[in-house]
Amino acid sequence: MSHPFSLSGQTALVTGSAAGLGFEIAAALAQAGAHVLVNGRDQGRLAAAATAIIRKGGHAEPFLLDVFDAEAVTARMASAPPIHILVNNAGARDRRGFLDMETADFRALIELDLIAPAHLTRAVARAMAKRGEGGRIINITSIAGPLSRAGDAAYTTAKGGLEALTRALAADLGPHAITVNAIAPGYFLTEPNAELARDQAVGEWLSRRTSLGRWGQPGEIAGAAVFLASPAASYVTGHVLAVDGGYLAHF
Ligand SMILES: NC(=O)c1ccc[n+]([C@@H]2O[C@H](COP(=O)([O-])OP(=O)(O)OC[C@H]3O[C@@H](n4cnc5c(N)ncnc54)[C@H](OP(=O)(O)O)[C@@H]3O)[C@@H](O)[C@H]2O)c1
Repeated sequence: MSHPFSLSGQTALVTGSAAGLGFEIAAALAQAGAHVLVNGRDQGRLAAAATAIIRKGGHAEPFLLDVFDAEAVTARMASAPPIHILVNNAGARDRRGFLDMETADFRALIELDLIAPAHLTRAVARAMAKRGEGGRIINITSIAGPLSRAGDAAYTTAKGGLEALTRALAADLGPHAITVNAIAPGYFLTEPNAELARDQAVGEWLSRRTSLGRWGQPGEIAGAAVFLASPAASYVTGHVLAVDGGYLAHF
């Protein structure tokens, strides 16, 4: 009997996996046996990331594609290898206050963080449905899906929408044996948070605000992705799994 967390024989596309949380997810899926398409927009960074995964004994190859470019996605996915696991991880942020943004700025971020993953998911899921073997879609949302803070309106709207899309697609794609789940990260020590991480006041606030009292290390996201991609999660769909040190649970 195969191991319930084995991804052997599966191909996984992890968007935005040259660095940060995406890289950790890609490396962990590869460690669990998947062949991983490491995605980003820079050939050099992609090659380095794929090499790092291969050096640890995993199977990986660079998959150069700007997932925010709908036309490029449509063209590239028409000739992509069969994908069994899609992780929509690439995301952008705009920390301007609502009053400082124009509608075009607001729309642009929603295009990147909500419409682009929906577009890629449709391309991948159509191929999954055609093959009839089922599949796994995992959306990386945020604790900014169910919660809000000032200066983050477009991101919060997009991530909240991606969370709702996760539930909607679980219903739409369930008849094709495709599960659709989300991982909602809390505060992780990745490059976009480098400045916040240097701020001692933020560290002290997180020590009070989270149950575990600290920042998340990037590698701590990976177990949730392996679980949701694996046979162990075959009856889990439409679920949002917070990986946040207890942020959402803590009051
Ligand atoms: N870090 C956190 O604390 C946190 C918290 C909540 C949610 N999240 C979410 O988790 C996800 C990853 O965050 P992160 O902090 O790990 O980000 P990150 O460190 O900035 O990594 C993002 C990666 O995505 C790639 N990328 C960016 N735009 C892309 C595009 N259009 N097409 C393909 N690849 C692209 C970048 O590579 P290239 O520039 O080389 O293309 C980079 O390697 C995001 O969706 C974010 O909203 C993160």
